Amino acid sequence: MAGNSACVCVSDFEVEAKKVLPKGIYDYYRSGAEEETTLADNVAAFKSPCDCRWCLIPRVLRDVSSVDLSLSVLGQQLSMPLCVAATAMQRMAHPDGETATARACQAMGTGMMVSSWATSTIEEVMSAMTTSPGAGGVLWLQLYIYKDRELTLSLVRRAEEAGYKAIFVTVDTPYLGRRLDDMRNCFKLPSHLRLSNFSTDALAFSEGDYGSDSGLAVYVAKAIDPTLCWDDIHWLKKHTHLPVIVKGIINGEDAALAVKHGVDGILVSNHGARQLDGVPATLDVLEEVVGAVQGCCDVYLDGGVRRGTDVIKALALGAKAVFIGRPVLWGLACEGEQGVIKVLQLLKDELILAMALAGCRSLSEVNRSLVRSVKVTSRI
Ligand SMILES: Cc1cc2nc3c(=O)[nH]c(=O)nc-3n(C[C@H](O)[C@H](O)[C@H](O)COP(=O)(O)O)c2cc1C
Repeated sequence: MAGNSACVCVSDFEVEAKKVLPKGIYDYYRSGAEEETTLADNVAAFKSPCDCRWCLIPRVLRDVSSVDLSLSVLGQQLSMPLCVAATAMQRMAHPDGETATARACQAMGTGMMVSSWATSTIEEVMSAMTTSPGAGGVLWLQLYIYKDRELTLSLVRRAEEAGYKAIFVTVDTPYLGRRLDDMRNCFKLPSHLRLSNFSTDALAFSEGDYGSDSGLAVYVAKAIDPTLCWDDIHWLKKHTHLPVIVKGIINGEDAALAVKHGVDGILVSNHGARQLDGVPATLDVLEEVVGAVQGCCDVYLDGGVRRGTDVIKALALGAKAVFIGRPVLWGLACEGEQGVIKVLQLLKDELILAMALAGCRSLSEVNRSLVRSVKVTSRI
């Protein structure tokens, strides 16, 4: 695996990961939908002040010799407000795949959202974490709703039995977005891997011929339910005692509907810009969603988080915690479990420093007054 002692930021890990990953796999992990305008914008939204976006307004003289990042998320104690988003097929990045990520999250005391499309089973990922008392780490299931509802509920039941603590139901994927690299590469899983939660070859995405298209787009069109609507959130809640969080809300109207339908949380997400291109960066719609929810449920954010200062901006605009997708894959590709730990530790260190430099000793001190929208109309 790539040596990465010189990796001092997340983008350094991406450079190293690109060197070790086969092109089709790197492309699948990196790419966004169509022209990738939203992909670029998710990251650009955090950059300030040159893009008329959010800049930090620090406070001083506050004794920041100690900074506490701990918090409770969905009833579980975490060491920091930075968690791991669901990314499918992690054993393409490293032979240990999702189990390495789970162990890394446990070592860092944070949470991991495990994809329905993991290349290890729900149970294998859970057993990768030690059960010793006091060990950190928590697992949540990311759920795709299949046309076969019994199959869908069997994933939920397995997660409940294995000890997962919440269900993040993805609502932005009635069909797969047009990811041009995957179409050009005719993306499919390497033959030694399968979507491990499913027993038949067709559902495990391991049957041979997907024609000259993105294999995943063909799979989604066959298996995932495009009729999904708000009643299905009731249906899901009726069938699980776990908290249900909707993943993929990016406007106030849908956020208000989510509250009306009794969700336990909203993850402001545009699926890492892999679904509908041309939607806003998640950071830019966060305040609208937080305003619409009026404190009735937690709001989380993912998309483009690459630095500690990104985390603090999202928290200041109302997110309870943030999730990262691609950065974890870069760490995993470089060095497996240790690589994911390094990425999480790097972001944690950056966040602690950003908090201290901003004059915040705990998350309760991160509030709206810490960020300001600065309009720069011309540059000299
Ligand atoms: C390679 C890859 C695979 C993903 N797989 C899933 C998935 O299986 N389910 C899901 O709900 N979201 C999936 N996502 C979206 C992530 O959960 C998350 O919303 C996104 O990656 C956050 O953006 P970031 O990568 O810029 O941090 C995936 C994203 C990537 C990059």
